[in-house]
Amino acid sequence: MPSPSSNALPASVLVVGAGGREHTLVRALLASPARPRVICAPGNAGIAGEVKCHAVAADDVAGLVELARRERVEFVVVGPEVPLALGLADRLIAAGIPVYGPTADGARLEASKIFTKRILLKHRIPTAPAAFFSEVGPALDYLRARPAPIVVKADGLAAGKGVVVAQTTAEAEEAVREMLAGGKFGAAGSQILVEDCLQGEETSILVVVSGRDYVILPTSQDHKRVGDGDSGPNTGGMGTYSPAEVVTPALLARIEHEIVRPSVNAIADDGMAYCGTLFIGIMLTASGPSVIEYNARFGDPETQVVVPRIAGDVLDLLWRATNGRLAGYRLETRPEHALCVVVAAEGYPGVFPKGDVISLPAPLPAGLTVYHAGTARNAAGELVTNGGRVLGVTALSSTLRGAADLAYGVCERIGCASRYFRRDIGARQLNRR
Ligand code: AMP
Ligand code: GLY
Repeated sequence: MPSPSSNALPASVLVVGAGGREHTLVRALLASPARPRVICAPGNAGIAGEVKCHAVAADDVAGLVELARRERVEFVVVGPEVPLALGLADRLIAAGIPVYGPTADGARLEASKIFTKRILLKHRIPTAPAAFFSEVGPALDYLRARPAPIVVKADGLAAGKGVVVAQTTAEAEEAVREMLAGGKFGAAGSQILVEDCLQGEETSILVVVSGRDYVILPTSQDHKRVGDGDSGPNTGGMGTYSPAEVVTPALLARIEHEIVRPSVNAIADDGMAYCGTLFIGIMLTASGPSVIEYNARFGDPETQVVVPRIAGDVLDLLWRATNGRLAGYRLETRPEHALCVVVAAEGYPGVFPKGDVISLPAPLPAGLTVYHAGTARNAAGELVTNGGRVLGVTALSSTLRGAADLAYGVCERIGCASRYFRRDIGARQLNRR
């Protein structure tokens, strides 16, 4: 096993997770000139077509540590937030296995919105004013004194569903009651934030962090609502594109100065030895960029457009972060535009069918990659749907229009009874021209 200061790249890597994000990471790691052996747990049908997948759930911390030991992997890259919040990185470090992804204290930046808001306010990082409550009465008093729209958030992890952007005070009151009295999100909603509503466009800024050193990855924008024109309920993300040109070089410099660097320093000042991706969700308001949230991991489906635009060796980048060798690193990016359309199962984010047979066009056009998310093989060996978000159809092209045309051309040719996708991924940027 390499020593922590080793310059040699690891010969074997375990990727933890089962989504499109992990399929993208597996592809990127396989493309490393170091030609590492890559394995995944638990993976999906697409990942299993490329590397060996092990049936260990992403939240089975003990099982994952055991797998890493048994397979003698030299490096673990963690995709989702749940194992990080459960202390997977802590356990791997204790076992002497280098890991990209923060320890449980750093993962609290995602696992507790109150913890994060306190850090943001303490370090004067731009964010919406908010107050914290564990009882209905004081929460109602507070929100009745604020103008609507207003935002009610469960403190803990709620699979992206714990945020209600209430258009009216009555709607906000209902959300408060559901969370604090009705137990809607269980323990995750036993404490809540009531937060002013920010107006503007959102952007996702992904930062590779190693202590006080960091590398800002290419900008992107997600489409969180399920329906065209940003209608319907929030989802994990229905499509992305990169770069997000709304983030001009001048605005990115401001974001770095006002948000990224202060955030990285705040995290270090508060005693967290953070190693991993810090995903900063930012609202671009009329008075400047403002932090909506931190996530302690790569975004999904941001990864599907951001990582393919990295020209350099992704294994080298993540390994440097893990070994404290990020200072002075210069990120090389590809000039193309990337666009990802998420093909979901009709009904997502509510109730949706599983087990529908999927047929993919073959061969795929140049510049097009289908990243698998909720896919599996049935008893007959056919590719079938196995989750709400099924595929991430991702195109790289010299223009965003070209990438959209390429991706949508393939989406239309995917056979699947429950196939659903938004038709307007990238439209905001395309219409701005
Ligand atoms: P979060 O889980 O904190 O990312 O929130 C989910 C989504 O809710 C965000 O992506 C925003 O679209 C929206 N949201 C969260 N907080 C606010 C806020 N203070 N103002 C407006 N929208 C918000
Ligand atoms: N796409 C947003 C997220 O990964 O949380």
